[in-house]
Amino acid sequence: MISGLEVGNFSGKRHLHEVLLPINTLALLVSVTGGEPPWVVEESLQELGRLAHTAGMEACGRLIQERGRPDAATYVGRGKLLAIESERERLGAGTVIFDGELTPAQVRNIQDAVDGRIMDRTQLILEIFAGRAHSREGKLQVELAHLTYLLPRLTGHGTELSRLGGGIGTRGPGETKLEADRRELRRRIQALKAELELVRRQRRLRREQRRSAPTPVLAMVGYTNAGKSTLLNALTGAQALAEDKLFATLDPMARGLALPSGQQVLVTDTVGFLRKLPHDLVAAFRATLEEVAEADLLLHVVDASAPELEEHVATVVAVLSQLGASGKPVLMVFNKCDLVDDVTAGALAARWSPSVAISAQTGQGLDDLLRAIDQTLAGTRERVTLHVPYDKAAVLEVLHQQGQVISQRYEAAEVVVEAELSRSWAGRVRRQLGGTGREL
Ligand code: GTP
Repeated sequence: MISGLEVGNFSGKRHLHEVLLPINTLALLVSVTGGEPPWVVEESLQELGRLAHTAGMEACGRLIQERGRPDAATYVGRGKLLAIESERERLGAGTVIFDGELTPAQVRNIQDAVDGRIMDRTQLILEIFAGRAHSREGKLQVELAHLTYLLPRLTGHGTELSRLGGGIGTRGPGETKLEADRRELRRRIQALKAELELVRRQRRLRREQRRSAPTPVLAMVGYTNAGKSTLLNALTGAQALAEDKLFATLDPMARGLALPSGQQVLVTDTVGFLRKLPHDLVAAFRATLEEVAEADLLLHVVDASAPELEEHVATVVAVLSQLGASGKPVLMVFNKCDLVDDVTAGALAARWSPSVAISAQTGQGLDDLLRAIDQTLAGTRERVTLHVPYDKAAVLEVLHQQGQVISQRYEAAEVVVEAELSRSWAGRVRRQLGGTGREL
């Protein structure tokens, strides 16, 4: 497992607060804007600041440069590099974080003019992921995402590979150090993929076992920091980690929950979604998010107090579609209603349907939520009575695995089964029975 992700070295002069603080945790944020509305830039920078906080740093200042597009060589304009360095020095920041993705050449050129550690948004996210993955699968995913990020960035100039520790293969005849490093990295990526596949297979097995118990699965999705873990705790008493830091959740957990109707369900938490989530990361975390594709109902948790609420909702909807989960039944859950007035909460609930307004922290609206889950779930399931001929007895197994069998009567030529199952499975079973499976 790779620990550090920095591209540059920290070699800045020592400042007073560095003497006071054991590690310099101050970060200067830099953004290049190309005519976006100021609030878009502002929100993105605020999020970058929260990400920095999650990674254990504090944003101490920011510089925004207005230009058509980032400079190919230096990201910001060359002149601006001097301004960054003097501002960094004035504030005593140990790290400069760019709100975008830097090419290796840009990192090198910036490093020539700016002391201190240089990071981009992706690196920052990777660093957070690295610190927060707990399960074996989570750790493997993070390492894979990191190496995939690193591969095109190997330039032969940096110190990246010395960070990879031992295991870098010996150079073949006529092969440059860079080629050997790249080959080694590709080999490691392949090995990681194979290991991940193994872990995923085990997990699929577990999921299938879970599915064989006829319990509907709810998956909590939502923008990072929406309050998913807090809600899971409030609903089930599970001790999922809830922190005011982004990405508190990297590993999904499943917890049992009883609804007012008596129906038992399983609730799983998922990693928070985020704007500008690098594509590689979405791919790397696809396995974690497979839970989403498998769920019977999605609880889309939204921070009702977030000024960027609309954008958060849109981001989550976009990621869901990337995961092929667009058609899933969704219940919108407007959380943190203790922070907004009743009119705002009411307006949100009226605009999205089905939806509920709650506060996971105060417990307000949790009963409504449970009732709404019951109702929404009931709408996604149906009760069927099927006449299954003995030559199609395999259907019985499907009914037991995918649904809840309420009664089963063996008659001379057929089995009469009453069962409750999801609409999609009901359709599939009917097709399987074709004309013979008379339905009452
Ligand atoms: P990720 O793991 O980043 O996806 O976050 P999450 O969606 O699981 O959020 P989490 O439950 O960690 O909550 C984020 C922050 O919001 C924490 O500081 C919570 O205490 C706070 N929070 C959650 N629910 C409420 C609420 O109903 N009201 C208020 N005021 N704060 C809340």
